[in-house]
Amino acid sequence: MNTEAIATEHATRLSSVDPLLPRFDPLAEPERASEAFRVIIGDSGALGFALRSEIDPSSSDSLWRALVEHRLSLQFTGPDPGECLTRILSQWDEYLTDTAPPGDWDVAAVVPRPSRDTVGSAELLRHGFAPLRVLAVRPADRLAAAGPPGEPGVRIRPAEPSDLRTAVSLYAELQRYDAEFGSVTLRENATELLTADMARELGKHEHEPTVWIAELYGRPLGLLQIQHPADTGWISPYVSAERVGYLSSLHVAEAARSSGVGTALAAHAHQLFDEAGVDAVLLHHALANPTSTPFWYGQGYRPLWTYWHRRPAVLAHSERAAETNSLRKRLS
Ligand SMILES: CC(C)(COP(=O)(O)OP(=O)(O)OC[C@H]1O[C@@H](n2cnc3c(N)ncnc32)[C@H](O)[C@@H]1OP(=O)(O)O)[C@@H](O)C(=O)NCCC(=O)NCCS
Repeated sequence: MNTEAIATEHATRLSSVDPLLPRFDPLAEPERASEAFRVIIGDSGALGFALRSEIDPSSSDSLWRALVEHRLSLQFTGPDPGECLTRILSQWDEYLTDTAPPGDWDVAAVVPRPSRDTVGSAELLRHGFAPLRVLAVRPADRLAAAGPPGEPGVRIRPAEPSDLRTAVSLYAELQRYDAEFGSVTLRENATELLTADMARELGKHEHEPTVWIAELYGRPLGLLQIQHPADTGWISPYVSAERVGYLSSLHVAEAARSSGVGTALAAHAHQLFDEAGVDAVLLHHALANPTSTPFWYGQGYRPLWTYWHRRPAVLAHSERAAETNSLRKRLS
């Protein structure tokens, strides 16, 4: 069994496990990998490609991830690829212990997996990874159960440049809440970055707004941000759909939750996407978020890709453990 055979069988596996996965694995970038692993045991095989990316703390992406991300993309084949994966994870661990600083919260190890290809979940857990973040999908023809009764006092309107402070404050609340679940990073320059991003967004979409405010009896208490199909090229390769919409964020002020504001904003987003002829809507959410996870699945979304994280990538005690191990080896 060679590398090509594993890659080909992996592609067949993806399309059989979930019809909404794309034909080509968007994560398969062997030419960009800094390290490649291959393990074959009997009729089963696995490939792993390690990639390191680093972003600037002054970029707005830094609010949503660790500054340094080590990513492992995997390809499997055969009836029993679990043991192959265990060995790949151990080899990657050795590589990370050699290259990543231990105990650094801003260095994460991430393994993206098709949500319905559950092979390897137990092995990931045993290596200290947790399913942290999901890219969820809602096909356009999906029927969702009716949510709570609409709140009569809710009015949804496009956000205007004069809403900048309100929008940033709602966004900052969302960030603080989501930071509890591991992928968002609270940074000192967050307000500055959010303000610059939001000002750009409010200024540029006069005819096709992307930011919407929900007012409850005249008070702005909810925020929705979306990306129209023309702007979703960065995420559309992750789903088998022609026209893709992306729901960037939805937030309702704590005092107004559970009264239908979120449902009204989500219905508004879906109506906009229907009008734009979107085939599927994507969004990211933190799995441990007790408000967003049930909310999105009630709105007709379901998991497409699951991102397993270990953060820090190398735990602080790993360095001491590695030293102890090497000392033990030398003494024996
Ligand atoms: C997720 C969030 C936007 C939902 O907004 P909301 O205004 O509370 O939503 P709604 O009131 O319309 O709906 C929530 C309630 O209706 C219920 N509900 C929603 N859709 C439903 C459906 N289809 N069927 C039955 N019940 C449903 C929910 O279970 C919830 O009820 P509960 O609070 O009594 O459990 C809000 O909780 C929030 O801002 N959370 C923090 C920020 C966040 O996590 N944002 C999402 C980031 S991805």
